[in-house]
Amino acid sequence: MAKVVLGVLISGRGSNLQSIIDAIEFGKLDARIAVVLSNKRDALGLQRAEKHGIKTVFVDPKPFKEQPNSREAYDQAMLDVLKEHRVELVILAGYMKIVTSLLIQAYEGRMMNIHPSLLPSFPGLHAQQQALAWGAKVSGCTVHFVTEGVDEGPIIVQAAVPIQEDDTAETLSVRILEHEHRIYPEAIQLYAEGRLAIDGRRTRIVESVKREV
Ligand code: GRF
Repeated sequence: MAKVVLGVLISGRGSNLQSIIDAIEFGKLDARIAVVLSNKRDALGLQRAEKHGIKTVFVDPKPFKEQPNSREAYDQAMLDVLKEHRVELVILAGYMKIVTSLLIQAYEGRMMNIHPSLLPSFPGLHAQQQALAWGAKVSGCTVHFVTEGVDEGPIIVQAAVPIQEDDTAETLSVRILEHEHRIYPEAIQLYAEGRLAIDGRRTRIVESVKREV
């Protein structure tokens, strides 16, 4: 099976990136990370990638700030790097910048994100805190395709995590993260096997469809 070529976008810690690197190294994921891009120079995830000999690129947002359509201009620079590395599937892994339609359209049906709640509950920032504040008894995490609406794209895989009486945002985040590290590589492997078919709002997990590059 041809390995799916990934570009991973991060802003920080990079623990999901690490889980993808590990899944590849353990032979559980038929993928190759061609490049890791960050909008933060000091993102810990960049060091994680470098340790594994993976190419990293920091795209500094500063010079773009003065330009008209600065967010699109920034995403064009990101897109140039992704294309240069022949990236087939874009993985958002704790990437804290809103992605513009320029990038979303270029990678329609070929960009995934992970979110620490059971979408469509608790989109946006501080999802774990939102779940606690709402008094939810169950939360979890979601891998979904990226569309124009933030955290709104077709859901690929979810995992549920019960909320405990004494949970804080931190303790809940830790338990959710364990599941994130399992389901993100799983979702990417389904893509690699050509088993994801987007059907309106839904992602159907099918026998196998040919991956279109
Ligand atoms: C994760 O909780 C992920 O769900 C959210 O941002 C966090 C990133 O963590 N989108 P890490 O950088 O992968 O450790």
